[in-house]
Amino acid sequence: MTRIAAISGSRRAESTTRAAIRVALDAAADANAETDLIDLAAVDLPLYHPDEDAQGDSEALRRRVREADGVIAGTPVYRGSYSSTFKSFHDFCGSEEYERTAVGLLATAGGGSYGGTLGHLRSTFRNVHAWTVPHEVGIRNASSVVETGDAGDPGPEPQITDDDVRRRTETLGRVVVEHAERLRE
Ligand SMILES: Cc1cc2nc3c(=O)[nH]c(=O)nc-3n(C[C@H](O)[C@H](O)[C@H](O)COP(=O)(O)O)c2cc1C
Repeated sequence: MTRIAAISGSRRAESTTRAAIRVALDAAADANAETDLIDLAAVDLPLYHPDEDAQGDSEALRRRVREADGVIAGTPVYRGSYSSTFKSFHDFCGSEEYERTAVGLLATAGGGSYGGTLGHLRSTFRNVHAWTVPHEVGIRNASSVVETGDAGDPGPEPQITDDDVRRRTETLGRVVVEHAERLRE
């Protein structure tokens, strides 16, 4: 079975990024993938330190990424780029984790601009030999279109109230599954 992991790069309890990522991951599950949510708000992961071989949950998290055929990577837009939480996790994982992995990108913004963040994600995933899929999702004014539901699992499901944004987000989940299946062949 194709395995899809999703990474949410926000530490906020009411994170719109995690909610949107869950919508994409549900679409991946509907496309028959086995899914795994890596919520960086809920892990023990100190800031990456190059003198340390392993820190906190780092080895288990790297294994989860390595075992995934596809990854959906989501981050809030911070200062026109991705969050420090996401960047630190990015530094733990390299081509050993991402070789032959399809990666779909998603960014949530408080304002209207997410292009730089998606570009930074794309170039840094290419650096670790991931195959970023062409379909990407940027959500402007995220708090007005993403209802976070309950952070707990199970709980009320997160919702994206804008039809176009919801469709694009669901498509991201399906497209990552399709490309992950091709890369497994
Ligand atoms: C430190 C910081 C920097 C931010 N920088 C930007 C920015 O450059 N552009 C923007 O549109 N929103 C910016 N925002 C707003 C977040 O992108 C927005 O609230 C996002 O949806 C938060 O995601 P979350 O709910 O998953 O935490 C910033 C927020 C914080 C806390």
